Amino acid sequence: MLVITLSKTHLTMFSKKEIIDILSDNSQNEELFRLADKTRVKYVGDEVYLRGLIEFSNICKCTCHYCGLRFENKAIERYRLSADEIIDCAKKAASKGIKTIVLQSGEDIHFTKEVMCKIITEIKKLNTALTLSIGERTFDDYKAFKDAGADRYLLRIETTDKSLYERLHPGMDFYNRLKCLKNLKKLGYETGSGSLVGLPGQSIESLADDILFFKENDFDMIGVGPFLPHPSTPLKDASHGDFTLSLKVMALIRILMKNINIPATTAMETLHRNGRILALQSGANVVMPNVTKADYKEKYEIYPDKSANNNDIDTIKEKIISIGRIASKDFGFRKK
Ligand code: 5AD
Repeated sequence: MLVITLSKTHLTMFSKKEIIDILSDNSQNEELFRLADKTRVKYVGDEVYLRGLIEFSNICKCTCHYCGLRFENKAIERYRLSADEIIDCAKKAASKGIKTIVLQSGEDIHFTKEVMCKIITEIKKLNTALTLSIGERTFDDYKAFKDAGADRYLLRIETTDKSLYERLHPGMDFYNRLKCLKNLKKLGYETGSGSLVGLPGQSIESLADDILFFKENDFDMIGVGPFLPHPSTPLKDASHGDFTLSLKVMALIRILMKNINIPATTAMETLHRNGRILALQSGANVVMPNVTKADYKEKYEIYPDKSANNNDIDTIKEKIISIGRIASKDFGFRKK
């Protein structure tokens, strides 16, 4: 029986042992979710920030074992939007009141520093905040994107277990990922990280390490979601991550990190039909409606059924209002 008192929103730290106990025991889940929700109300309020997600290329040079966009997946039809198409998606989203544009893609070498900077400059004319989520780049690239106007960057660590990381990311270097995160922070980006829950070979202990890593680095945004096996990847036969465990990891992050921005991730909604609402009621304060053109959405298949979710702006706004929250008209920077 767990003996940790889950009642105070000003609680700032748990030991690794306490985190492991909370994650392994389900007898206090409701208290945990309630405390995360109270912490969210106190530190970031009832507004839900909307981020318009543009998935502009599914071409990727990486071979991450879990991801449907991996280079070796020949069963996927690849696409790449032109700069004009990307800017057009951003304009449409901005005209619907979206105040943050998120540009996400596989690690596509077509999008050089110069090409990206042009796109960033154009999008920043729309008076929106801009987030990039395009993987590992050099310090020089990150600096150029920042100078061109990018405000935020998302780069999940995926797992802090170094040997698991290296097994799942052939040819990639755990320390380089850490360096990228450090560079982003140094350059003054609002920096987001996060991890997958339920990767094959991942332990509860390593999830506790993930949470401590996020807290220690004081990231501005953390996205977590369950691992979902994709049929065209080496992990096709693995079982999916647990929904409740993912929600608990997210709730703990809210309790310990207070004022950061936490998305109700699409992977949560894919695994549980009410996943996004449950996440919003257990610590999350951000949703990322998909504003990519319809014909491309279904080709950005990181995991199966991703595009089956109703991720358009109006549906998401309705959901937010239905639970007594406010669809924010703000840029949604971290409240410090
Ligand atoms: N299941 C769940 N999430 C995944 N991602 C990639 N592949 C999967 C999968 N099979 C997540 C990674 C990445 C983000 C864009 O999508 O965490 O950082």
